[in-house]
Amino acid sequence: MTPDAVHPLPTANGESGLSILRGLLADRSLLTALTLMNRYVGRAFKITLPRFQPAVFVGPESNRQILVTHRHKFRWRNETDPVARLLGHGVLVTDDEEHDRLRALMDPPLQRRHVLPEIDRMWRYTNDVLDTWERGGDRDMLVEMRRLALLNLMGCLFRVEFAADMDRIWHPLLQLLEYISPGLWIFWSGMPRPKYRAARRQMDAYLFDLIRQRRADLAAGRVTPDEGDLLSQLILDPGMDDQGIRDQVLTMLIAGHDTSTAQLSWTLYLLGSHPAELARVRAEVDAVLGPFQTGDAPPTSEQLNHLHVIDQVVKETLRLYPPIHVGNRSAREDLDVCGYRVPKGTRVMYSIYLSHRDKEYWPEPDQFCPARFDHQRDQADEEQARPPLTYVPFGGGPRNCIGASFAQIEAKIVLGRIIQRFDLELMNGDKVRPYMGATLEPRPGVIMRLRKRG
Ligand code: HEM
Repeated sequence: MTPDAVHPLPTANGESGLSILRGLLADRSLLTALTLMNRYVGRAFKITLPRFQPAVFVGPESNRQILVTHRHKFRWRNETDPVARLLGHGVLVTDDEEHDRLRALMDPPLQRRHVLPEIDRMWRYTNDVLDTWERGGDRDMLVEMRRLALLNLMGCLFRVEFAADMDRIWHPLLQLLEYISPGLWIFWSGMPRPKYRAARRQMDAYLFDLIRQRRADLAAGRVTPDEGDLLSQLILDPGMDDQGIRDQVLTMLIAGHDTSTAQLSWTLYLLGSHPAELARVRAEVDAVLGPFQTGDAPPTSEQLNHLHVIDQVVKETLRLYPPIHVGNRSAREDLDVCGYRVPKGTRVMYSIYLSHRDKEYWPEPDQFCPARFDHQRDQADEEQARPPLTYVPFGGGPRNCIGASFAQIEAKIVLGRIIQRFDLELMNGDKVRPYMGATLEPRPGVIMRLRKRG
């Protein structure tokens, strides 16, 4: 490309177009199509489907421009996307002052120092779920981790004991996740189907009831809001009405549990398919947390800090299978990104998945190799060599993930406790594929045989 010139975005054509089409037909996965576009066309390309013509960017330099330097030239909110229709004015789908005000309101309870006191609750919820595994047998970790992520999110962020509501909300929640997943709406923005409208009614009834109940509890002095209790803080904020609170609670509920579900279930899948890594994690857990005993105390934050191998395994899992595999924006004005012209109104995507598998920055990018994130090892430190924003599982810049600390602390507690209590055997490893739902999920699920460690 000529230096300093601005070029139109390339697209697949001729031979490359045919190869991509063949690849797409072979496994009918959009992820495969994106991977092939990246391989044949490059780090910037345009998809040309009817009504769906996004500009896709890959790599640290475009990540920097989209997430940091040019971020004001993009909008997060796209009125016609189901995610904006569902979340209303949730922090994830707002812009400018509205976004910044909501973010400032919701950030404090999610800061690390306010999440660390939640260790005890996360430990309790983890034990509650693991107690149901005591008889052993086969379980789907995609389901189990969703149960656990919901208990953690609702209990630790909103002080809502979700176990009683789980069965009632499970089905509408899954329907709403399906509604916001990439699907036909990309090409046709018609009315939501009746099953989604019904799911939304059920979810709204639940959320407005929760708000009403908490408001009454606060007024009667039955609940004293603490620094980690976001629901009470939202209710007490003079700028929020019930609809606004509903939008934030649903945003956190969806963004905060579906990502953790994917993170935890992919980690278990990768450990199940790499027994040597599982053995390393087990040795670390035994050394740091000790052998399992019923009723033993939750780990301290110092103990969590010593779970280095789990940390590497989770980071490598998020590299290979980032739950949010793509960030969506819309260009507010004509601009150029890395020398490519992006006209006003273009849907722009930065691909986290493809950035994490870029051969230039990741040797053997498709291999599961947690030691890439081992800062102690003797070899040249890869992390040092990599430019900033090469690794972006939580996005980057001022609108990075607000729940990153929550998710990282949760992962150590949940995985540490599972491995302390159970031996795991992956039963369907050859069948698992990444599926583009609301997050990148292991489908059809992660079936594991569980045996109590003794
Ligand atoms: C492993 C778990 C998680 C991953 C991989 C993840 C990933 C991400 C990514 C990539 C973004 C930026 C998207 C973009 O640039 O378009 C983001 C934003 C966000 N995340 Fe997370 N997330 C996780 C957990 C959580 C949790 C636990 C919560 C809430 C408790 C949460 C709430 C949010 C919200 C509200 C935003 C929007 C922030 C804003 O626009 O200011 N996430 N997340």
